Amino acid sequence: MDQPDCEIGVVGLGVMGRNLLLNVADHGYSAAGYDLEPTKVDTLLMEAASRPISGAHTLADLAASLRKPRAVLLLVPAGAAVDAVIRGLLPYLEPADVLIDGGNSHFKDTERRAADVARQGIGYLGVGISGGEHGARYGPSIMPGGPRGAYQRVRPVFEAIAAKAGDEPCVGYLGPGSAGHYVKMVHNGIEYGLMRLISETYHLMKQGLGLDNDNLAAIYDAWNHTELNGYLIEITANIFRKVDQRTGHRLIDMILDEAGQKGTGMWTSEDALSLQVPVLAIDVAVAMREMSVLKAERTAASRVFAIPQPTFFGDRRTMLDQLRSSLYAAMIITYAQGMVQLGRASQTYGYGLNLEEVARIWRGGCIIRAAILEHVRSAYHASPQLPNLLLAPQLAKEVLARQQDLRSVVRVAAELGIPAPGLMVALAYFDSYRSEWLPDNLTQAQRDYFGAHTYQRVDMEGSFHTQWGDGQPESDQLLAAEQEPHPAMVGG
Ligand code: 6PG
Repeated sequence: MDQPDCEIGVVGLGVMGRNLLLNVADHGYSAAGYDLEPTKVDTLLMEAASRPISGAHTLADLAASLRKPRAVLLLVPAGAAVDAVIRGLLPYLEPADVLIDGGNSHFKDTERRAADVARQGIGYLGVGISGGEHGARYGPSIMPGGPRGAYQRVRPVFEAIAAKAGDEPCVGYLGPGSAGHYVKMVHNGIEYGLMRLISETYHLMKQGLGLDNDNLAAIYDAWNHTELNGYLIEITANIFRKVDQRTGHRLIDMILDEAGQKGTGMWTSEDALSLQVPVLAIDVAVAMREMSVLKAERTAASRVFAIPQPTFFGDRRTMLDQLRSSLYAAMIITYAQGMVQLGRASQTYGYGLNLEEVARIWRGGCIIRAAILEHVRSAYHASPQLPNLLLAPQLAKEVLARQQDLRSVVRVAAELGIPAPGLMVALAYFDSYRSEWLPDNLTQAQRDYFGAHTYQRVDMEGSFHTQWGDGQPESDQLLAAEQEPHPAMVGG
């Protein structure tokens, strides 16, 4: 058996686990790997070459190979598998050992698991890891949450293996409990939103402007050298160039237009609803993945509504500039919604999140890394309590300078019959957020009319109810609170 001196153990030697383990070893830390499938352990050992890597064929052996207090990183599919591994490991762990879930677990599962293992004195970290296979191997963005003391146990390893933005590692302690998994969930929600926006620009350029894959690749490439610079734009350009080995066509045209989802985007939307935070960008992105899988229905409906698509007669160069500009504005608006959700979650769940730190960690390694995050970071640095990124002077200026372009693009999309709900709700979010007045006085009146739900007045404090129906005597009843004149009405 190996000497009990390994710095960290990894359970789950799939793509993420294997690559992360190699990354750990490349930074001089010894690591032990375990997988239910013995062949994966053997493959790891072959790949390990002279690196300080050992393999374990049982969880008992894995635990025995680790220095104390032990640190065990689980990289298994979210859900029942995580519970099963924890159950299997617990008999071999001792107080002060640290269990780390590096998968995309639901934050409520993380809370439950942390409370369970805490009864045995074991520290539980819920850690978001972003960057896919390449990130795991060469530097992911790492979002750790849980007991601060437990984090100290793995901090040097995490700082060594994380992506670097400049010379700063893209990892930092985020907060207690499920803070890390919550931040990763919202990261994924933003990821969904950004991917949706990019796909809408693709749709508009392909069907609206008739651009081919070479044109599209060149445009996204060029955009990647502008304010839009970021990982998702970069890979989009590459995607349009990729040739299908089977047919010789571009691969993109051979891929079915139905997008799958593992659930993190939906969880983000669900929790935003329960926190009462509007995240239209994420809601729409989730809903449009659902729309995409209705392929058979869409095909049938396309025959029922066989409306000829109008031709775009505008200036194409101008349209391309407006698309780039509106994409950037919509991206700012998308990040803004995710960050507001994090702020609200932090208050509600007691995470004590530092949003500047979140933006800092996301600048490298993760899927939503982009130049814009430097501005997001600066915005929270200047104003840690900023209620919304749209109120940060620099970002407000960027959106203001582009809002007419966004309106033009949305108008063109509507006229051409090209669905662009992501861009549309970005504009709607912006227009709602900047509106001092919204028509919700009518909603209040309707609620009071049919359900006696009461309403507030603009000229005095309190809750009021009115008998609205025809033939009922005119009355307006103050149901609670003092009948003070509203400050806005004093002297008015
Ligand atoms: C990342 C990704 C990663 C993964 C998601 C995508 O940050 O590395 O977000 O976590 O690609 O699972 O999930 P969907 O299947 O829901 O698109």
